[in-house]
Amino acid sequence: MANHVAELARRRERARLGGGQARIDNQHSRGKLTARERLDVLLDPGSFEELDMFVEHRATDFGMENNRIPGDGVVTGHGTIDGRRTFVYSQDFTVFGGSLSETHAEKICKVMQQAMKVGAPVIGLADSGGARIQEGVASLGGYADVFQQNVLASGVIPQISMIMGPCAGGAVYSPAITDFIFMVRDTSYMFVTGPDVVKTVTHEDITQEELGGASAHTSISGVADAAFDNDIDALLNLRRFFSFLPLSNRDKAPVKPTKDDPRRDIHALDRLVPEDPTKPYDMKEVIDRIVDDREFFEIQPDFAPNIIVGMARMDGSTVGIVANQPMEQAGCLDIEASRKAARFIRFCDAFNIPVVTLVDVPGFLPGKDQEHGGIIKHGAKLLYAYAECTVPKVTVITRKAYGGAYDVMASKHLRGDANYAWPTSEIAVMGAKGAVEIIFRKEAGDPEQLQRRTDEYQEAFANPFVAAKRGYIDDVIMPHGTRRRIIQSLEMLKSKQLENPWRKHGNIPL
Ligand code: HXC
Repeated sequence: MANHVAELARRRERARLGGGQARIDNQHSRGKLTARERLDVLLDPGSFEELDMFVEHRATDFGMENNRIPGDGVVTGHGTIDGRRTFVYSQDFTVFGGSLSETHAEKICKVMQQAMKVGAPVIGLADSGGARIQEGVASLGGYADVFQQNVLASGVIPQISMIMGPCAGGAVYSPAITDFIFMVRDTSYMFVTGPDVVKTVTHEDITQEELGGASAHTSISGVADAAFDNDIDALLNLRRFFSFLPLSNRDKAPVKPTKDDPRRDIHALDRLVPEDPTKPYDMKEVIDRIVDDREFFEIQPDFAPNIIVGMARMDGSTVGIVANQPMEQAGCLDIEASRKAARFIRFCDAFNIPVVTLVDVPGFLPGKDQEHGGIIKHGAKLLYAYAECTVPKVTVITRKAYGGAYDVMASKHLRGDANYAWPTSEIAVMGAKGAVEIIFRKEAGDPEQLQRRTDEYQEAFANPFVAAKRGYIDDVIMPHGTRRRIIQSLEMLKSKQLENPWRKHGNIPL
């Protein structure tokens, strides 16, 4: 028996060493943790159960039969975060550059399948040179197997990708299908084709960082949801993010008890909206003040900042927040904002997270770029996402709700459950000045008359009561009571039941 125990210990030790001390030192010298060290930070101490530690590749070409490392470049298994189960895989760059072989892919698929059976999220820590070049098409097959599992798991269990090194070529498409992509600044990058190929094909000179670093993907492409300064910061934030998520589509959003009074009045909100409707104010102020303990995990803070999305809690329960930001482009909806919010709402809907919408929107952004860029289809994504959504929807209009954007932003007509408006609300087809310039065009030569018409229009329509008379607004509420009213509505909606008609799937305008 002693021999067997020693043999097991020896084999485990060998597997834990991955690609060897020199490569581990190299990983550290770049400011990166190893695959196992990352799991130590991510998971509760002692909770990690590793699977398939002894799996080796089966390749024989290019001398690979003499070059096998147990684990084959990916550490897989399950553990807990704050006591809640998650499956994980962590690519080991010290083993063949974390490249994906047939067996490496099998290990990833295995944890994904188990995660779906038991109803727990999958977190993937990516650090890989892509397809294992020595394996050729077997590796490509492995990627496709992973993609297929990603798609089957979509909407069943949350899938989160943390990019902690290279992620290039077709390899990017697994994270792309997952629900959230986070990146580490300076050490991670994602691109379909790297700088050398770009140079050959388009003659552009561009660095890896410029092409696919964290800054490019969090602010320009919108591919990534947030970036963090280093491995530890990233993994600790991932733990925090995980605390908002239900474990599967059969699970309810988690509850974190709070001392923050659900009936707390917030008098500062009564003074937040400026008298002048053209003056902006910071919608993040509203969010920070109404949610529990001012804790808001913002998604895509640097992309399409004219709309704010993210996770928070109200009276302990997770909610998804969607809010127009008057500080950016006056809060207009454009292509990027529509895509950003639509995807977020669909995540919330898939995983039973109520959606709280704060509205101050003057409309869709006009312009040739927007029209030719397809705002019709992209704006429709947001409309579709809200209309399809069956989780509780609570909406508060703080100021403008104009035109089509009024309809889109979780209005009563799109099955909003509780729709409130502050007294400062203006719910109308458009602003008074624009409206008068159209319907009284013939009086354009008489500025005084035009001003009288504008004042009349303002008086008649720039308020919440026209909509409230029709029941499109359930109540006009004082800003200071916003937190209390939202929480009361969410409490009432806990037993909400609503189903869409049976179908194979809808056809969202992609
Ligand atoms: C096998 C690989 C590898 C790969 C790296 N290695 N990438 N082994 N297959 N794809 C190995 C190296 O041989 C080296 O082994 C070790 O990993 C570390 O690599 P270095 O090059 O020394 O590291 P670094 O300088 O940091 O460069 C990292 C890198 C570079 C930028 C990722 O290795 C690289 O360009 N690799 C190839 C990337 C690539 O073209 N992949 C295929 C993409 S196509 P030793 O033994 O020396 O330590 C693709 C298609 C997927 O992925 C399609 C899905 C549909």
